[in-house]
Amino acid sequence: MSVRVEGLTVRYGSAVVLQDLDLDVSTGEILVVAGPSGCGKSTLLRAVAGLVTVAAGRIVVDGQEVRGTSRDRAMVFQDDGLLPWRTAARNVELPLALRGVPRTGRRAAARRWLDRVGLAGFERHLPRELSGGMRQRVQLARTLAQRPKVVLMDEPFAALDAQTRADMQELVVEVLREAGTTTVFVTHDVDEAVRLGDRVVVLGTGEVDVRREAILAAVMA
Ligand SMILES: Nc1ncnc2c1ncn2[C@@H]1O[C@H](COP(=O)(O)OP(=O)(O)OP(=O)(O)O)[C@@H](O)[C@H]1O
Ligand SMILES: [Mg+2]
Repeated sequence: MSVRVEGLTVRYGSAVVLQDLDLDVSTGEILVVAGPSGCGKSTLLRAVAGLVTVAAGRIVVDGQEVRGTSRDRAMVFQDDGLLPWRTAARNVELPLALRGVPRTGRRAAARRWLDRVGLAGFERHLPRELSGGMRQRVQLARTLAQRPKVVLMDEPFAALDAQTRADMQELVVEVLREAGTTTVFVTHDVDEAVRLGDRVVVLGTGEVDVRREAILAAVMA
């Protein structure tokens, strides 16, 4: 699924947060959006998710203008958003249950995705019995089990220690590529941007759009 942002302007009251922004993400691409705090990265993701009102311009996903939220577009947050009283598996199953997937199908999907993110054997653990990285992996499994076409990630690894973060970056790229998911990944960590993105867009500086190769060349020069 491709995402096209055309002349996007978002305001909060009289404050203009994004102005006349253009952006294209092709199907299966991982686009990283970087930029300083307050430049509008989360706002951009919320706009693509269909969670904010657009003052001008539009967002088009596979030819269809975004007018609200959709199952096709899933958000992943820094906070894992897990329900503390449900086991890992039951957290993964929840959105599937809400959309009426029968129990056996839900269970199989939860097991498969938890296994895929390296959590086989932890299905029955409660969130508090898991580390921060493991909880983020449960969130990832929960998101991917819904098979979204577009995943919008808002600094999902910001709270993790360096090693766990590196492991998660590797895992997430592998899993998103395998699923052919179109991804917009927000970070303000340059290392993370370079490691993850096919392309990096820097917001808040007159939108520089740089190919990964160009960044790598600059970093390694
Ligand atoms: N609901 C809101 N109401 C009013 N102003 C808001 C709202 N959400 C965000 N803002 C403002 O809009 C600007 C952009 O916020 P946004 O959260 O998109 O930035 P960000 O790039 O994600 O920052 P960070 O890196 O700190 O997460 C900020 O100045 C913020 O204060
Ligand atoms: Mg933000």
